[in-house]
Amino acid sequence: MNRVQEIRKEKDITQEQLAKLANISRKYLSLVERQRATPSVSVAIRISDALSVNIDKVFVNVEEQTAVFPKPLKYIDLFCGIGGFRYASEKAFKNIGIKGECVFSSDIDKYAQDAYEANFGERPVGDITKVDETQIPDFDILFGGFPCQAFSICGLQKGFEDKTRGTLFFDIARIIKQKQPQAFVLENVKNLASHDNGKTLQTILEILRDELGYHVDYHLLNALDFGLPQKRERIIIIGSKKAFYMDWKFDVKHKKTLDDILEKSVDKKYFASDDIVTKRKAMHTSKYYPSIWHENKSGNISSYPFSCALRAGASYNYLLVNGERRLTPREMLRLQGFPDDFNIVTSDCQARKQAGNAIPIDMVSMVIEKFLPMAF
Ligand SMILES: C[S@@+](CC[C@H](N)C(=O)[O-])C[C@H]1O[C@@H](n2cnc3c(N)ncnc32)[C@H](O)[C@@H]1O
Repeated sequence: MNRVQEIRKEKDITQEQLAKLANISRKYLSLVERQRATPSVSVAIRISDALSVNIDKVFVNVEEQTAVFPKPLKYIDLFCGIGGFRYASEKAFKNIGIKGECVFSSDIDKYAQDAYEANFGERPVGDITKVDETQIPDFDILFGGFPCQAFSICGLQKGFEDKTRGTLFFDIARIIKQKQPQAFVLENVKNLASHDNGKTLQTILEILRDELGYHVDYHLLNALDFGLPQKRERIIIIGSKKAFYMDWKFDVKHKKTLDDILEKSVDKKYFASDDIVTKRKAMHTSKYYPSIWHENKSGNISSYPFSCALRAGASYNYLLVNGERRLTPREMLRLQGFPDDFNIVTSDCQARKQAGNAIPIDMVSMVIEKFLPMAF
């Protein structure tokens, strides 16, 4: 099994360029990339050198092994928000039949801390940049959906400390370096892949692989493909000390529809004014019922039997159920897969922000469930 194609694309190298650098034919490289040919050790070294990545991160020896899980499996929940990763991981642990224990959580936002405490009985620690990594309890797996920030490119950059200081990924990296967990699962927006012409994601992957020594893979996934009626595309990065091969295809049996999500009785405060509703309905007729109407920046309206991605800031006004009313906080949480026993303790405004910031639980739990047995 090899990751030649994936790493070549990450590094924006063409097949022709790599073939030339490794001194092999493009045709042979193409066979290697499609897992149809296994190169000799010397060719594998040349390809890895040409990619500037350690050979064991490019050519992965995946052995069939039964996972051995720590009991309980300890995890930390960074940038925890209202606990999307906590729900997703606990659901995955339950399906695998193991017990998890959250030993540390952190979020800088007071209202997110309030919500997390009300639902999980623990108040997350605040600003992670102020946390001394040596003081974090030992754990087996790190979860974190971190904000995407550009890395500084000035001066001579040596290790990750140089390259990422001042970004929140730096904090993830320094915690992994100190605590040496077996595995991690990170989540980020789709734009991470194109951010700074792909350099941001490339730096992250290089640090995780080459400096911290993990086997790493990543994929762009859409919540819609995981049975949630929300088009939400997110990059998931997974890593383990153990070599693994992740097949990113998932067999999703239960699909929720908007009918499952929408509340039957909704307070009139969520309804738009007659004037707005009349104007919208004059501009657009939906093919679907129920539907979520989406107005883009230029004022064009489209509608679907699912929601566009919820956002922490603006989703309240630009999404209207059947062109008539806003989504309630409970509906937004359901669109992210939060169970109805999630206790909403903050204002509508904070709850909307929190739901918009969260992860699609059904999607992330399926990734964790598939990944864990390979990672341990
Ligand atoms: C995209 S959200 C993650 C939401 C979470 N995955 C969930 O499911 O609710 C990013 C979170 O990072 C938090 N954050 C930003 N800067 C932080 C910092 N310096 N320390 C700790 N948390 C921070 C924000 O408050 C926000 O809740």
